[in-house]
Amino acid sequence: MLVYIDMKQADSDRKLKPEPCILIIAGITGNLAKKYLLPALYDLIVADMLPDNFKIVGLSRRDIETADLLRIIEDDLGNKRQKVNKKALLKMTEMLHICLMNISKPQDYKILREDLDKIEDDLGLCMHRLYYLAIPPQIFGPVIDGLGTFGLNKGCQHGSTESRLLLEKPFGFDLASAKELVGRLNNSFSEDQIYRVDHYLAKENAQNILTFRFENPLFSRIWDRNSIEYITITAAETIGIEDRADFYDQIGALRDFVQSHLLQLLCLATIEEPADRSAESLHKEKVKLLNSVAVIKQDEVASRAVRGQYEGYAAEVGNPKTTTETFAALRLQIDNERWRGVPILLRHGKAMTDKITEINFKLHDRLKAGHPPSILTIRIQPDEGIVLSLVAKKPGFDSQTQTAQMQFCYDQHFADALPNAYEYVLVDALRGDRGLFPTADEVIRSWEIIENVVQAWTHNEHKPEIYEVGSQGPESAKKLAMEVGASWETHQLKVC
Ligand code: BG6
Repeated sequence: MLVYIDMKQADSDRKLKPEPCILIIAGITGNLAKKYLLPALYDLIVADMLPDNFKIVGLSRRDIETADLLRIIEDDLGNKRQKVNKKALLKMTEMLHICLMNISKPQDYKILREDLDKIEDDLGLCMHRLYYLAIPPQIFGPVIDGLGTFGLNKGCQHGSTESRLLLEKPFGFDLASAKELVGRLNNSFSEDQIYRVDHYLAKENAQNILTFRFENPLFSRIWDRNSIEYITITAAETIGIEDRADFYDQIGALRDFVQSHLLQLLCLATIEEPADRSAESLHKEKVKLLNSVAVIKQDEVASRAVRGQYEGYAAEVGNPKTTTETFAALRLQIDNERWRGVPILLRHGKAMTDKITEINFKLHDRLKAGHPPSILTIRIQPDEGIVLSLVAKKPGFDSQTQTAQMQFCYDQHFADALPNAYEYVLVDALRGDRGLFPTADEVIRSWEIIENVVQAWTHNEHKPEIYEVGSQGPESAKKLAMEVGASWETHQLKVC
């Protein structure tokens, strides 16, 4: 007779390694799984970070050879010029199972339930269940309903394990649909079972922002409008839309990046110190901050938002009339004591000069004309680090000053390679730690802030400005910054 182990009883030191779990991936052959999830799982096997009992169940309408999935990982390793760890690949093969079903048919979730129960029966274990929806948001609905209908939201058949649901953005297309999605999710899953993935929050130096701000009193004391003149957040990519034309042409840069990644980074850069290290306290501060970000009013869209499209995009998506933006910039303000009057500039674009994500805090300075400004840069990627420009006396007898830099670079301070953001996403979800995952309240408020822009752009009240591939985006974005005496350029000579 099988003995079922209820992992809730497990002793506390087991917490370090996540408890036994089945990861169910809807969209196992899709772009996200190929580009991020499968390689991250492989890396976690190599780092021995997965639970001792762990299974991956891919949902698919057709039978997929495990070898095909593993080839994706080998290609990824090839691109990174890394040697294949054969043992890890073999382990992954043993973990993988394909459940043959149509994810859009709610009745097919009976097949999934039987497969999951069988895995647990064979292992004699109760396991947590993590459902990862790596699929377009248009098909979230039937999946959520199917999971709910067949009790797959309730954890293991014999014990008290948890079912968690991981979702990829965009969480809705506008305010109304985001609210509808929250409602639909809550029919089957409670808020604490829902993990909304924003992988930018999981990037190493993004996770370091709060530590940097609050563990170094030198900085926490100057973190306000008295010392910081303005803040810019840039997430630029050199790639275009790759093979995601259908998806991207319906979404655009504002929904793809600004509503999620950029507003979340803004939270980390500007929230008050959370009461403690719990996910609840962090979420509470983020909601508070977002509530104090002023909504862009209908009559402010033209002056506070810039919409761009890179040259050749329309031909690439095969839609000559497309007005989808591949670049979006916003100018926001935070109406609270700490930040009142400090311009906040956010921009994201594809097909730009460099791949860079960074947050720049322009400090009030006394520099004379011609000198580079004083800036604190938090570089999220690549070359992760933090750089502060200082004024220094230039060596010599004529008392001149020059800007110099103080740098903290990850690759100089830490020997090990940084874990990839999706490794953190998976490990935290396996551990049941929701700190990295935005809540429904955060998501809804983020939509509220930009709703008027979303609507104006959806109805084409503002056509995108065409910009050159490999450029800094549309000219109007420069103006958006200049109008408040700001600049996107950092003049930092080198960041790590
Ligand atoms: C995703 C966006 O969230 O992030 C993509 O949907 C974008 O459009 C990607 O290319 C960039 O992620 P990263 O980690 O490569 O900077």
